[in-house]
Amino acid sequence: MAGLSRILTIADMRKAAQRRLPRAIFDFVDGAAEDEQGKAHNTQALDAVRVTPNYLIDIGVRSQKTELFGQTWDRPVGIAPTGMSNLLWPDADLCLARAALAANVPYILSTAATTSIEDIGKATDGRFWFQLYAQSDLETNLDLIRRAREASAQALVLTVDAPYPGKRERDMRNGFVLPLRMTPKMLLDGALHTRWAMRFLANPAPRLATIAAYAPDNATAGTLAAFMAARISQTLTWDDLAWIRDVWDKPFILKGLQSPADAVRAKALGVDGVIVSNHGGRQLDSAPAPIGVLPAIRAAVGPEMALILDSGIRRGSHIGRALALGADFTLVGRATLYGVGTAGQAGVERSLDILRDELDRFQAQTGCPEIGDIGGLEAGLPAAA
Ligand SMILES: Cc1cc2nc3c(=O)[nH]c(=O)nc-3n(C[C@H](O)[C@H](O)[C@H](O)COP(=O)(O)O)c2cc1C
Repeated sequence: MAGLSRILTIADMRKAAQRRLPRAIFDFVDGAAEDEQGKAHNTQALDAVRVTPNYLIDIGVRSQKTELFGQTWDRPVGIAPTGMSNLLWPDADLCLARAALAANVPYILSTAATTSIEDIGKATDGRFWFQLYAQSDLETNLDLIRRAREASAQALVLTVDAPYPGKRERDMRNGFVLPLRMTPKMLLDGALHTRWAMRFLANPAPRLATIAAYAPDNATAGTLAAFMAARISQTLTWDDLAWIRDVWDKPFILKGLQSPADAVRAKALGVDGVIVSNHGGRQLDSAPAPIGVLPAIRAAVGPEMALILDSGIRRGSHIGRALALGADFTLVGRATLYGVGTAGQAGVERSLDILRDELDRFQAQTGCPEIGDIGGLEAGLPAAA
């Protein structure tokens, strides 16, 4: 898309997506739970981290290469799992996965994705991770894990912070509730965004492509989503980690932990990594900002366990601040969704490049030519953050 180079920040990309997407779809992405204070606090807490730069260091050659789970990635930021993304752009999941491949960063496919495990496996040649929303029956969970293994997924991410849906009031007010129905208001909203509407009408309606295999044959896009929502397990406990660990021998990651005690327990149960996350503020509005709990979690689990941070990242310096406070890696959710909603794969690439360039400046200005140097910076949160 012409003009992408004029988008200088993730905030610009957000505005561009807001102009291009029907309100109900933009709000689905941008919104969060209840008063959305948790979402706001995520970014405010990242902004509040102060980092002391070091000077008189040769920063002439800089690299963002980062090791994680035995692989070298070109940047320390991957793409978080997101459901229903094809509402934003046809084949948005593929756009996200391909942009991640091109940047050599991880892409995590959601159980609630609108592209199947098999299609993503083929498109990426197995270079993706699979995120599991545990379903209420064991057979479906085992089958989802089998499908991820057969598609050569490199890691399994179990999301634990969504045992019950968050109260997303923008969605409720917009009529964006399950089962999805096209109300006159939504049709008008779509018609006012002609290019989005033309793309939407020219393609099959987005549906939960991985979950479709377990639903009745006549399930529509809307009833499928309700089918899945009704089957998300509310009874998953620590005891279930053992059988998952037994059937999955590649890296196993828990997403959504926020307490040091939980991270220590995960480590003891053989979990390889934790995504310190509050789901971008979409679940528990009163949850702490992940950046605020990260130092205590790092202190509790020790230096070896992989800690990945998401929620609130809108700047390359946010990635730097997370690495300075103990993260090994980071993820973004909305930053790349704003990109895909603006311009498909090119928009995702632009979002990733904005973050890369900002992180490069952060490295140059703090005296950190290598990503590994960032952990040695003096950085801190004000006491109240
Ligand atoms: C539209 C949307 C859909 C999401 N769907 C999922 C999902 O299916 N599974 C999951 O584990 N997390 C999901 N998340 C949470 C993201 O994986 C991630 O934790 C969050 O977006 C990070 O915060 P950020 O958006 O501020 O970067 C979703 C987030 C958004 C914005």
